[in-house]
Amino acid sequence: MSQLRDRRRRHDSHYRRAKRERFVARSVYKLEEIEQRFTLFHPGQHVLDLGCRPGSWLQFAGARVGPTGKLVGLDRQPLDVELGSNVRIEIGNVLEIDPAILLGDLQHFDVVMSDMAPDTSGVAFSDQVRSIELFERALEIALATGKQGSAFVGKVFMGEGFSEAVRRIKAHYKRSKTVRPQATRKSSTEVYVVALDKKTVPSAHSPSS
Ligand SMILES: C[S@@+](CC[C@H](N)C(=O)[O-])C[C@H]1O[C@@H](n2cnc3c(N)ncnc32)[C@H](O)[C@@H]1O
Repeated sequence: MSQLRDRRRRHDSHYRRAKRERFVARSVYKLEEIEQRFTLFHPGQHVLDLGCRPGSWLQFAGARVGPTGKLVGLDRQPLDVELGSNVRIEIGNVLEIDPAILLGDLQHFDVVMSDMAPDTSGVAFSDQVRSIELFERALEIALATGKQGSAFVGKVFMGEGFSEAVRRIKAHYKRSKTVRPQATRKSSTEVYVVALDKKTVPSAHSPSS
């Protein structure tokens, strides 16, 4: 692909809108669409964002939960964006981190969301397998830290292991739906599984509780 065409593809209308509206990534409009359909966020809630860099989902969720809400973001790399004092960032690998560290002094999360994606290798099958691994780990953390009635949103590349992951979601949440937001790039195989109304209490405990 020529450099000009690649730039045009990356700098599409969602990219330009994000610039105008001061969001650090165009992916904010995927979460906005999910929020319009499912109303995940309410003032005062506790939100966990796995794979949060550069930070547009934290910007969006932060505005929804307001100053009385609390947000925790995890990523392998530090963020450059300025966020509210009610946002705590942890740097680390989701596959290794203890969910109790993510809770900190919180008892539970109301919403756990993951926009994590593996560094793509160009080999579709192995990218998809690593995407499922990240998705399943995000779900495991949501089960350990999400309160009864909480919501989970997880990104995954469609392919092998997807149906099994959806079966696990259905076992733990009362309702779930797979969505492909309009801001998703045409070439992408990603979808988001939105799960509502977790059936069980969190199994992890914060170090202080
Ligand atoms: C698509 S970006 C997230 C964009 C974010 N939702 C936003 O709107 O700003 C995916 C992020 O997942 C992170 N990530 C991928 N694998 C991870 C892992 N094993 N542990 C922690 N973060 C990971 C990457 O570093 C990357 O920043």
